[in-house]
Amino acid sequence: MNNERFESYSEITEKEIGQALDFAYQHIRKYVPEFTRSFQNAYSENNFYKPIPNNYWTTGFWTGEIWLAYEYSQDEVLKKAAEVQVQSFLERIDQKIEVDHHDMGFLYSPSCVAAYKLTGNQKGWEAAVKAADQLITRFHDVGQFIQAWGPMNASENYRLIIDCLLNLPLLYWASEETGETHYKEIADQHIHTAINNVIREDYSTWHTFFFDMETGQPDHGETCQGYKNDSAWARGQAWGIYGCALAYKYLKDDRYIQLFENVTQYYLNHLPKDLVPYWDLTFTDGSDEPRDSSSASIAACGLLEMAKYVDSKKAKTYQSIAKKMMKSLVSHYAVTDHEMSNGLVLHSTYSNRTPYNTCDHKGVDECNIWGDYFYMEALTRLYTDWNLYW
Ligand code: GLY
Repeated sequence: MNNERFESYSEITEKEIGQALDFAYQHIRKYVPEFTRSFQNAYSENNFYKPIPNNYWTTGFWTGEIWLAYEYSQDEVLKKAAEVQVQSFLERIDQKIEVDHHDMGFLYSPSCVAAYKLTGNQKGWEAAVKAADQLITRFHDVGQFIQAWGPMNASENYRLIIDCLLNLPLLYWASEETGETHYKEIADQHIHTAINNVIREDYSTWHTFFFDMETGQPDHGETCQGYKNDSAWARGQAWGIYGCALAYKYLKDDRYIQLFENVTQYYLNHLPKDLVPYWDLTFTDGSDEPRDSSSASIAACGLLEMAKYVDSKKAKTYQSIAKKMMKSLVSHYAVTDHEMSNGLVLHSTYSNRTPYNTCDHKGVDECNIWGDYFYMEALTRLYTDWNLYW
C-alpha cells in the first residue's frame, strides 16, 4: 500500500488516545440516564440526538458504545444500562419488531453478542442466536446472497448491499456457539457473491448489486446513498474495507488481502488533505460538500483489523494510516465539550439526496450513531488488545 502521501502526518499518541477515550466514557456516562430505556437516534439534529424506541436498524450502536465505555471503565452503571437494553433487544426479536431486513448484525453484534462475550449474558446469547435465525431467512439460493431490504422475491428488491459484510460476523458467531454449520455456510456464500460483484475493476465499489431472479446471474450495480451510480459512496467504500478485513478473518482466503489493499488504496487516493472523506469520494479538497467522518472511523477499524493478519511491515503501514486518520478525527471532528452535543463525532453524513440517487435526505453534516460507535471502537483497538464484538 502506498502511504507516501501521508508520510509527514503525525500519528495519534498514546496520551491522546487515552484522553479521547476518557472523554467518550465521561460523555456516555453523562447521557446514559436519558438513553437507557430509549436509544439515541440514527442521526443528530443540530448535533443532538433525540430518543427513539428500539425499532430502527441503528439502535445496536448506542448499546455498543455503552459496552465499549464499560470495557474502558468497568463502571457498573454502564453495565446495568446495557443490560436493560439487551432485554429490549430480546423483546424486539421475539416480537419481530422491524427485523425483516439484513441489518441483524449491526443490531445484535455490538449489543447482544457483546453482552455475552463480556459478561456471559444469557439473554444476549438467546437474542443474538434468534437474530441470526432471522438473518438467514433472507438468503436466496438463486444468486447465493442475503437480500438487503424489502419484501423477498420481488425483482426490485433482488439485491445485496456492501454494508451487509458487517452483518455476517453474527452468523459466524452463531455457528461457533450452536455448532450448527448452516449459518457459516450462508455467510461464506454471501461473502463470495458480494465480493465478486460489488468491487469494480478500478477497486471503487457499488453500494448495491442486483441479480436476475430467475437465473441468479449478476445483473447490475446501483447506488442508493452515493452521489450517483458510477461514483464511490465514501461509507460504502469503508464498509468494503472493513468488510474485506472481516472476510479474511473468517475465511482466511489470501485473495481478500489483495482486495483489501486495492479497495483501501482507492479510498486513500481519494481522501482530502485531512484524511476525512467527503460523503462521496467524487469530491475532494476545495469542495463545499459535507464530510462523512463516520467513514473514516470505519476505515480505521478495518485497517487495524487487517493489521493482525499481515507481515509486520504491512501491519505497521496499516496501523500508521489508521493512527493518522484518528489523529485528524480526534483533533478536528470530535466533540470536546459535554454541552456542545450529546454525540461523540461531528460532520458525518447519513443520506444525502441528489438528483442521481434514491435515498431520503437526512442526517447530513450531523453526528451519526455508527460514526460515534466506530470512533470508539477504533480508539479502543488502539488502546488495548480488543476482543471484537464482530
Ligand atoms: N448501512 C447503512 C448506512 O451505512 O447508511
